[in-house]
Amino acid sequence: MKFPVLLTYRIPSGPARALDEACDVERLDERPVTRERLMARLPGKLALICLLTERIDRAVLDAGRDLKVVANIAVGYDNIDVAAARERGIVVTNTPDVLTEATAECTWALILAAARRIPEGERLLRRGAWTGWALDFMLGTELAGKQLGIVGMGRIGRAVAARAPAFGMRVVYAEAGDHPAPQVDGAARVSLDELLVGSDVVSLHVPLTPETRHLIDRRALARMRRTAILVNTSRGPVVDEAALAWALEERLIAAAALDVYEREPAVHPALVALENVVLAPHMGSGTIETRTAMADLAVRNVLAVLNGRPPITPVPSP
Ligand code: DGY
Repeated sequence: MKFPVLLTYRIPSGPARALDEACDVERLDERPVTRERLMARLPGKLALICLLTERIDRAVLDAGRDLKVVANIAVGYDNIDVAAARERGIVVTNTPDVLTEATAECTWALILAAARRIPEGERLLRRGAWTGWALDFMLGTELAGKQLGIVGMGRIGRAVAARAPAFGMRVVYAEAGDHPAPQVDGAARVSLDELLVGSDVVSLHVPLTPETRHLIDRRALARMRRTAILVNTSRGPVVDEAALAWALEERLIAAAALDVYEREPAVHPALVALENVVLAPHMGSGTIETRTAMADLAVRNVLAVLNGRPPITPVPSP
């Protein structure tokens, strides 16, 4: 008999085939999946494969009373109540590692876009406002010789740091709170305050936890250099968007580049109105290779658990 599985969104054909071979898969191929529908379809399912946009809280887990595993197709798992899952004996898995390079590449795309004002220039050109080359036209800032401050030196933070020498940047890093972090060659660990005060680019790579929610608030933004650029490819609520809009309007920092938002897909209207912020629609891991690998890892986690083997990438205990 095949294992009954609920899949909330379509996945690439390779992992889909592997899943279909062993499982009887119900697909909720709709966006957004309503809570009611999710909860109505969960009873009887042994596994749930879900996206970061679906909130898997106590009520959803109660509806999934037969669940053995919840496999999130994301490295971040702040959408899942992991403690509640654990209480119910449900394994939770995520997709670390496979999206590290794609997210690091996207982070650099955002750093460069903000430093060199590429989206702002393109907007101007497309509206026909470009009057030709001029010595002082839309000047950006150079990265060479500057300091990159990485907040959260996990896998993605390290991959971003590894690319810094190519742009002639030195790297410092800090953790939120007292988190231990491995020694990283060529990068100095400093306090968060020192990082904010001394960095030309501040890039955020922490998970969303109660400790990191609004880690970058008015006070933190006021500590940054007036010439600094803030980049966020982690989770939206790590930055207080209203405070960021204020800091950008007041020119307390020079620019920002965001891939994630506090209330996705909504973006704070004050940010949308500003020229000095690059706004990307949560696409850090968005390459064909990476999204396929993420779905593949989620499927392999489900198959492992349903076949009585340990999960490949369980999320750590809360
Ligand atoms: C993740 O996996 O957590 C990313 O945000 C997806 O892009």
